[in-house]
Amino acid sequence: MRTEVTIQGLHAALTPVRAARKSIGFVPTMGNLHEGHLKLVQEANQRCDVVVVSIFVNPTQFGAGEDFSSYPRTFEVDSNLLAEVQCDILFAPSVEEIYGSQPQQTTVQVNSLANDLCGNSRPGHFTGVATVVSKLFNIVQPNVALLGEKDYQQLAIIRHLARDLCFDIDVIGIPTVRAENGLALSSRNGYLSPDELALAPAIYATMQQIQQQILTTVDHSKLNFADLAKQGRKTLEAQKFVVDYVEIRNPDLSLADQEGSKWVILVAAKIGKTRLIDNLTVIRPAETLDS
Ligand code: PAJ
Repeated sequence: MRTEVTIQGLHAALTPVRAARKSIGFVPTMGNLHEGHLKLVQEANQRCDVVVVSIFVNPTQFGAGEDFSSYPRTFEVDSNLLAEVQCDILFAPSVEEIYGSQPQQTTVQVNSLANDLCGNSRPGHFTGVATVVSKLFNIVQPNVALLGEKDYQQLAIIRHLARDLCFDIDVIGIPTVRAENGLALSSRNGYLSPDELALAPAIYATMQQIQQQILTTVDHSKLNFADLAKQGRKTLEAQKFVVDYVEIRNPDLSLADQEGSKWVILVAAKIGKTRLIDNLTVIRPAETLDS
């Protein structure tokens, strides 16, 4: 595995790859890698000739008082893990390499989608994400970018920006990797105390309960998404979560409609100081569609 810390170095590494018409798969990350990240790299290897992974803790997507300075930076361990899963090029730029020394005049704003759900409680977060991902797309110029469904809203936003800004990149979502107890793997799980860690799988369990309730409601005109979400919120609050939102939406994140056949349950909740997000897709079996 080759490691590059400058844009110029990365370009030099990728020039012969492009000349040989090899496909490039790209996995953007903020490091502190776990099995979820490594799954994206493995999928990239399945689909592309050359795999580039970036590790960059992007300051512009963290709000004031959020965990930018304490975000876990574990470069040595990450680098070894990536070498084991056949990453070809690790791109690990400094903040200055990405943002330069002059203040930025240009940002990428994805309109209504960025001000919904997590955007409500993290103003500016998705502009930071969209801006850095656009920069990374321009720097790496991959054929395929692989992102986790774990960050469902982020994935939706990146799909939009790729389309709206005419990036010639296939954006592919990869299913969430979970611990055996259902907890979605996340770098932020490392902030949890043992007690909090024992509580955290309740998020998945609560989403599963909502999923079951949707699937067992045969008459879909009786589906009350607001009520189901409220029940989910109560279940979590009874277990000491501070719930930001429990929502049931259509797959494109518009408000859920009863006539649909696929929805996504989305949760953001804090345990102590740690904010966790997760989501679960519900698919209505075809045989109940015409009932
Ligand atoms: P980070 O949180 O490091 O996540 C990098 C990628 O890994 C994202 O696409 C995320 O959805 C995916 N991922 C995280 N946990 C996962 C899991 N349990 N299963 C599958 N995929 C998982 O997301 C970011 O970094 C940043 O916002 C970034 C896109 C790099 C922009 O700075």
